[in-house]
Amino acid sequence: MTSDAYSAAQASAANLALLSGQPAHDAAVVLGSGWAAAADALGTPTAEFSLLELGGFAQPTVPGHSAMARSLLIGQTRVVIFLGRTHLYEGHPVDAVVHGMRTAVAAGCRVIVLTNAAGGIKAGLSVGQPVLISDHLNLTGRSPLTGPEPPPGYGSRFTDLSELYSPRLRALARQADPSLDEGVYAALPGPHYETPAEIRMLRAAGADLVGMSTALEAIAARHLGAEVLAISLVTNLAAGLDHTGLNHAEVVEAGRNAAARLGGLLGQILPRVLPASEAAASEAAASEAASSDPAQPGHPPTGLSGAASDGHELRAG
Ligand code: HPA
Repeated sequence: MTSDAYSAAQASAANLALLSGQPAHDAAVVLGSGWAAAADALGTPTAEFSLLELGGFAQPTVPGHSAMARSLLIGQTRVVIFLGRTHLYEGHPVDAVVHGMRTAVAAGCRVIVLTNAAGGIKAGLSVGQPVLISDHLNLTGRSPLTGPEPPPGYGSRFTDLSELYSPRLRALARQADPSLDEGVYAALPGPHYETPAEIRMLRAAGADLVGMSTALEAIAARHLGAEVLAISLVTNLAAGLDHTGLNHAEVVEAGRNAAARLGGLLGQILPRVLPASEAAASEAAASEAASSDPAQPGHPPTGLSGAASDGHELRAG
């Protein structure tokens, strides 16, 4: 990572403010494979625009991922939704994979909600089931923090990941749906699916779910002080655990079938993600912004720094 990656994210956040008409956002949601259909259940966006116009985002090459983003007010939470993501396996560098995270935090987001499609490894998981990610095994062999120390004002590259997936946000998600299971997500580079032998190894290593995304984004978001919630949709049982082969169409189809449940879940979680004190501050800022002229060209995104609710320093990216 270079300081250029952080200044590129600042520029994208300024464009996000202009295109959305919102000087700041509170939370960002990334919709993974199969999750796009859930977006409509979240309500009517106040703005919809292409991520390509923000700069720094790649054109998605994966069916089920789009380059569009939406800005919505869900309860009192101003949310930006990315309707697709950039994957390592598309051939992009790690900085491109996490550019959305750095942009979102630079745009003011203190909460990041990552969703993905995953193969179920843990016994008892079934297709169509959302599962909270409690921890991960990053088996991509990569880190968004590789390289020189981040520029002055940003957190150390030696970022603490002991509570990468926020216990507070997981508890909140379980309040919305007490039936939610949780598990450890193994992130592999892909794009091929795993062999049955690899799945046996992952299970022995403590993995409950397997997929090709999320871990690098979560690390980048946490490095910037955001709280991270991640939810997998089990779109298939992992290789060797049932008698059918794996394919991407099945993954997208499982998402489509679960869209109403996933949208309903996100719709219940998002209005409550800001800690009470921050929700009040966000409401006050929104009404102040409404009475002035929002997002003029050159108007810097607000919420660029401050204290995250858990005491981590929150930095613009
Ligand atoms: N393996 C890896 N990635 C995936 C899977 C899987 O079985 N299902 C959905 N994404």
